[in-house]
Amino acid sequence: MSIPTNNGPDKVLIFDTTLRDGEQSPGATLNTQEKLEIARQLARLGVDVIEAGFPAASPGDLEAVRLIAKTVGQEPRQDKAGQPAEPPVICGLARTNKKDIDAAWKAVSAANHPRIHTFLATSPLHMEHKLRMSPDEVVQTVHDMVSYAKSFCADIEFSPEDAGRSQPHFLYRVLGVAIAAGATTINIPDTVGYTTPDEFGRLIRDIRENTPGAKDVIISVHCHNDLGLATANTLAGVQDGARQVEVTMNGIGERAGNTSLEELVMALYVRQQIYELDTNIITPEIHRSSDMVSRYTGMVIQPNKAIVGANAFAHEAGIHQDGMLKHKRTYEIMDASTIGLSHSKLVLGKHSGRHAFRVRLQEMGYHLSQDELNKVFQRFKALADKKKTISDVDLEALVGDEVYQPQETWELVNVQVQTGIQVVPTAVVALRNLKTGVEITDAGFGTGPVDAVYQGINRIVGAPNRLVEYLVQAITEGMDANGDVTIRIAVPDSRGYKHTAQGRPRRRLFSGRGIDTDIVVASAKAYMQALNKLLAAQDQNNATVHIDNNDTVAA
Ligand code: KIV
Ligand code: ZN
Repeated sequence: MSIPTNNGPDKVLIFDTTLRDGEQSPGATLNTQEKLEIARQLARLGVDVIEAGFPAASPGDLEAVRLIAKTVGQEPRQDKAGQPAEPPVICGLARTNKKDIDAAWKAVSAANHPRIHTFLATSPLHMEHKLRMSPDEVVQTVHDMVSYAKSFCADIEFSPEDAGRSQPHFLYRVLGVAIAAGATTINIPDTVGYTTPDEFGRLIRDIRENTPGAKDVIISVHCHNDLGLATANTLAGVQDGARQVEVTMNGIGERAGNTSLEELVMALYVRQQIYELDTNIITPEIHRSSDMVSRYTGMVIQPNKAIVGANAFAHEAGIHQDGMLKHKRTYEIMDASTIGLSHSKLVLGKHSGRHAFRVRLQEMGYHLSQDELNKVFQRFKALADKKKTISDVDLEALVGDEVYQPQETWELVNVQVQTGIQVVPTAVVALRNLKTGVEITDAGFGTGPVDAVYQGINRIVGAPNRLVEYLVQAITEGMDANGDVTIRIAVPDSRGYKHTAQGRPRRRLFSGRGIDTDIVVASAKAYMQALNKLLAAQDQNNATVHIDNNDTVAA
């Protein structure tokens, strides 16, 4: 049986939901500028669809999607053959109600290719306990709301939430109604990551064979990773006829995350002979995209993560190194350069001038204004004084640090610590309030130098919180490496429900990241970033609201 797609029979469309499902990871806060930069990078990477957010969740979300639609959604780009290509489809998520659909349409309509993605749960558990709707009411709502969305937009995607635990015969009925009402993509989510590859593949095949109209639409799959099976399930879905896959960069997302873009794309690429399927992804952009998402969300990549982990192409064991030297393919199934991991030919150091610096940034895909370039160049010079050579990773960190910062209330002016054996660690901290221009200096004592700095900052800012995660890594090698600190702070959630379904207090998480050759300074920067996000969310109360009941609410 031939599988109908709107993109040739041998292509799988990549639907990236990093900015929607990915941003629902606890603490993965992104500001508008960061979302825009990520969307631009995803377009460069060659994704077919960008799910840019959930516009009804908050005015901030709507505005971010709107901005992406009227910029990235209109900008021509290049395909992997270097030919001019259409901008990606820009998609907004909506529950099946008019308010959400209106918001989604308002947000995406400026894009050259807009899409509304609407969803309603179909599993007995969700219908009975969450929606409190009968199966007939669900079918009627799907009909009414897909038709409503279709009155605005030609490209409509419908998802039966928790399809993995839904009755197949009910799914055929609901999906048939969605297609008759105008859905052009039907997406099958394994919302709680419950299915196994055999089971999920069979479900996709059965849907294709039994749903009225299924042969005229794209079947999509959307898997979560609760059992670590998201990539395997997605590939099984593809083998049984799905021609769109919903993925996130680095696999970030609700709970254990979503199918990771890089794993899925590289599995199709490396095992082409098995799948005989292609994507539009420009694979050398994978590493840069992964790094950007990790830096902006504060979601650190585990070193052994497939494809993009720091160890993915590292060979430690002598026997492996020996094999590699004799023939690269002995222990490597793909070239690091395929995902864009190559060493810069242009080595930057303290003697490099502004021109070489700008050219290198352009090669890396950063097109900065004169002002931004000046700021980053100054930081580069300061770093080059401390470090012999500056790698691409250092540069990416500098750009991230200097250019794409959230709106700040407090700026770190100075930090000084005294620590050692038989000394109470003490810190003197100076901060400037950017709203009033006032500079305040105070001191703190702690169990160690970082604790002392945080106590000093707390005395000035006065925003009670709990440090729930602190991670320090070296992002480059050697004694002069840049220290990269990622932290998460938690505050009680003061909005709406105070407790989770399990009776635990709800909390909101804010992440921060700081980079410096001095890890105490990097720690101070990370804390300031997290605190500024906390203060911005408290000020504007424009945090993203989760669409289901989880323990934490990402802000
Ligand atoms: O996991 C899920 O069910 C979703 C839907 C909104 C598609 O993210
Ligand atoms: Zn999901």
